[in-house]
Formats: sequence, C-alpha cells, structure tokens
Amino acid sequence: ATEEENVGNVKRQLAKLFESSLRAIVPDEPDVEPLVAACTAKFGDYQCNNAMGLWSKIKGKGTEFRGPPSVGQAIMKSLPPSDIIESCSVAGPGFVNVVLSKTWMAKSIQKMLLDGIEKWAPQLAIKRAVVDFSSPNIAKEMHVGHLRSTIIGDTLARMLEYSNVEVLRRNHVGDWGTQFGMLIEFLFESFPNSEDVSETAIGDLQGFYKASKQRFDSDAAFKERAQQAVVRLQGGESKYRKAWAQICEISRKEFDRVYQCLGVQLEEKGESFYNPYIPGVIKALSDQGLIEESEGAHVIFIEGFNIPLIVVKSDGGYNYASTDLTALWYRLNEEKAEWIIYVTDVGQQQHFDMFFKAAKRAGWLPADDSAYPKVSHVGFGLVLGEDGKRFRTRNTEVVRLVDLLDEAKNRSKATLVERGKAEEWTEEELEKTAEAVGYGAVKYADLKNNRLTNYTFDFDQMLNDKGNTAVYLLYAHARICSIIRKSGKDIEELKKTGEIVLDHAGERELGLHLLQFSEVVEEACTNLLPNVLCEYLYNLSEIFTKKFYSNCQVVGSPEETSRLLLCEATATVMRKCFYLLGIVPVYKI
Ligand code: ARG
Repeated sequence: ATEEENVGNVKRQLAKLFESSLRAIVPDEPDVEPLVAACTAKFGDYQCNNAMGLWSKIKGKGTEFRGPPSVGQAIMKSLPPSDIIESCSVAGPGFVNVVLSKTWMAKSIQKMLLDGIEKWAPQLAIKRAVVDFSSPNIAKEMHVGHLRSTIIGDTLARMLEYSNVEVLRRNHVGDWGTQFGMLIEFLFESFPNSEDVSETAIGDLQGFYKASKQRFDSDAAFKERAQQAVVRLQGGESKYRKAWAQICEISRKEFDRVYQCLGVQLEEKGESFYNPYIPGVIKALSDQGLIEESEGAHVIFIEGFNIPLIVVKSDGGYNYASTDLTALWYRLNEEKAEWIIYVTDVGQQQHFDMFFKAAKRAGWLPADDSAYPKVSHVGFGLVLGEDGKRFRTRNTEVVRLVDLLDEAKNRSKATLVERGKAEEWTEEELEKTAEAVGYGAVKYADLKNNRLTNYTFDFDQMLNDKGNTAVYLLYAHARICSIIRKSGKDIEELKKTGEIVLDHAGERELGLHLLQFSEVVEEACTNLLPNVLCEYLYNLSEIFTKKFYSNCQVVGSPEETSRLLLCEATATVMRKCFYLLGIVPVYKI
C-alpha cells in the first residue's frame, strides 16, 4: 500500500518503515514481517518487537549480531528517514521504541479535519462480505437473542462498510419448515374465509402459534391434515402458498418495527429462498462422495465430532443444516462473497463448526482458516435479568422487543423532562433526543462487553449518565459541541486557516489517541469485536476530559484556535464511533 493509502493508520505507516529496515539488515530473511504495536509503557508511542524473534532465527547462522539488543540497535539505525518519527531508543531485549513527531501528528489531525474522516477508513483485503444477522423465526418469538444479533451484526456491517467493503446484510429468517403445516391448517380453521386474515385478526402471532401447537398435539386428525399441508405447501399449491405468505407478512411487520426503532437496514433472504437450490447442492456433495447413509438419514461425517451432520432427514425432508450449506454455496458462488459472517448465540457454535468443516471438506473453502474466502461465526452470550436468570419481562414469559425499546426511550424522556428540557426544546427535539439516548443506551450496553460474556439487562445502569454508558458519552459529545458553539468562532474557517499544536502533554495525549482511531476500527472489524471500539470511545472521552480539558483552557487562551480544532477533531471521531455503533449523536443537552 502506498503512503496515501495508509493515511490515518499510524501503525501501518510505521510498519512500512520498519519493513524497509528489516530488509536492509537481514536481506536473507525476506519473510520476516514487521511487528509494530502501540506502547503500553511510557518509553514511546509505538514499538517494534522484531528483535527477539529475529535473533532466534539468525543466531548460529554466522551472523554479525551478538543478541537481541544488538539486533534492535541495527533495526533502529537502518530506519529510513521519516517525518513521522521524532526519536527512537532501544530498550530491554531489543524493543525499538518510537516517539512520534508532534508536528507530524498535528498535521495528520488537521488533514483529517480538512479531508474528512472517511480518509481514515481501514483497509481490508476484501471487496464483498455477507453479514447474516438478526434472523428471527416466523410466528415465533423475536427474543433478546435476536436483539443482540441485530445490534452486533449491524455494527459489524457498519465497520465493514466504512472500510469500503460491500456488505450484503442478510436476514436469514426461519420461514420454512414443518411448523408451517400446522400454522396453515390452523389458519384455515380459524378463518375459513381467507380475506378475513389480517394482522389485527391474528393479533399476536405467537399466541396463534401456541394455540395451533396445542391443537396439533391433542388432535390426531388435525395433525394428519397439518402434515399433508406441509407436503402441499412444498409442492407449491397456491392456496397453501398464499396462507404461508400471509403468515410471513404478519411476522415481518412486527420485525420491521424493531428494525425501524434501531435504524437497522436488512435484506430478507429467508430459509425458503434457498429451498430450490438444496437438491442440487446435496447431489454435488454426494457425487463428491461426502454423503453417507446412517440410520436412514443422509449425513456427512466430520472429523472431531462424534455425531454426523444430517443433511437429509430420514423422512426425506431438509433441515437447518441443509439450508445453511446451500446458503453458503449460494453466497460463495452466486453472490461471490469473500467473507461470510454469521451472528448468533454461542449455543449454535457446534452447528456452525460442523457445516464450516463440511464446506472445507467439499473444497468450497481453503484449508487455511485465515485465507479468503472465509467464514466466521460471531457467537454471543446470554442476556440476563436482574435475578441473574435468562431475561424475561415481568409477567409474561415473552419479552416484546418493541416494548423494551419503548421503555428505554420513555425513561430517557422522563429524565429530560425532569431536567426542564420540555420547556427549553421543541417537542420534536425532545422526542429525537429521547430516542437517541434510549436506543443508544440499549445498544451500547450490549456492545461494550466482550460479546461472548453474558450481561445483565438493567435500565437503571444503562441509562446512568455517569460511567461507561451511551448517555455519558452522548453528553460528553454534546458538551464538546457546546464549547465550540459558545466560542463564537466559525470552525469551518478555522479548519482552513488555523493550526494545531500539541505542546502541552494533555494535547499530545489526546492527539495520539485520535490518531489511533483507524487502527482500532480495523482491529475491531477484523477480529469481529465491537467492544474494542467501545473501549476506544470511552477512553477518548476520558482523555479529552481528564487530560486535555481540565488542564488546557480552550476559550480565551493564546492556544484557542488550536484547542478548538482539537475539540472539533474529538467530536468528529466520537461521531464516527457513534455512527459505527449505530448510535445517533446529540448536539445539545
Ligand atoms: N433463525 C435462527 C435462530 O433464530 C438463526 C439463523 C442464523 N443464520 C443462519 N444462517 N443459520 O436461531
């Protein structure tokens, strides 16, 4: 990558310098890649950690070096001249510490303000990805697990999109399967006149599901009819198809309400979509000799698992795995996706492990897990209630997600009213802010933990304006905006005419953290860990307040222009973080 392409990514720009140094000192080891990382100790801003590994590679090969420290020295001395670096030193067993030039740092931040933060986008090696997320099941409960999948999947999609990857946002809804026979038959019974079927008539589709299940379990004749209905549906009989479509449509409306609240874009390609492709895929796998018969079913045996992957059930029907294998085939071959990401609870890990391995056996995916095309399962833990058990709302066993989101919004609205905002703001401002804060709080509470850990759903905690919450961060951003507003200066003008200086330690520390934005997004995105970005955002806000703002007077100081620009850069980076986390920023508090 050229320097222009690496703009924003300090780590990569330094890696390029160290790479040329390594080529110079050990020309016979062209495979050694530069290992550059941000410093945790205070010896510098970044460090190069190649010396020790390189030493163990070259010692005994008649090298002129006498140990890791001398390798470190040589790496340092062979660095090409660059205006990025202020100074270097070698510490301990050969770590090369780099202090960045504050002039260069200031210029880079200023350039971002002028050219836009899009220039700091991470660079990934792929052009197109599928993110398979949310994916609730028709007529069944859309539960907090689906909420987690929706929130995490949306963030991952946003990070990839920011990185200039085309993302196919796929809602793999469960809209196919034997339960539809029972539902359709029950629909015919309840509404003999199909025109009467409407959302209001069925009301709550989950209740409808339960009632039909009861009927199915208790009435043999009904069960028989339901089983025939499946066959007729799959045979494509129009009356059955129509009933199926009606049921799906009612569910879809309910799902869409949640997506609308959350501002999430998704394209539905449900299980039914892949149905026509299943026989061909199964046949191809079978021709490759991958499929065996076991207890009447067709299965793929997979190394490391004591149960096989069933791809055709003993009654000849297809299942979750047949659909997923086929969807993967479709995504690889028809949609030409290079990275396919699945977001579900960790409970489904085994299913994904197994069909990923089957795809590898079939030669659809490279044996090397890090090579593309690549598949990743993004698992997440449970949402717990305050009692430490699986989250449920008060009396019903079902958590209606829209109710949950409404409550977050209403609570944040109540707080705003308490603080006198009803008099100060228009009704629309009040409403929009309550939504931004309420929905943002739900999302952030979910995203800030490592996704694999369970977390407790607690309105009081997530809506607290202190601590690591969306409320605190949104307010911090609004406060920065108000500093700029109250200065009375035209910030767009300052971007063009003013200059940033990072002389004060607080200014420098803030500047360094701003410059690390790009590499952090890249890490969060490539490792599929949104919490990494949350941590960055929280630290940014802390550094701004505690290191910069409390030590460096902004308005009325000789450094006013530079410091206003640093405020603007901080607000810009915070807004991009909010955007990537699916949170709507607020400008007034
Ligand atoms: N519908 C499934 C569920 O609710 C999730 C589907 C996830 N995506 C997939 N390709 N299997 O658990």
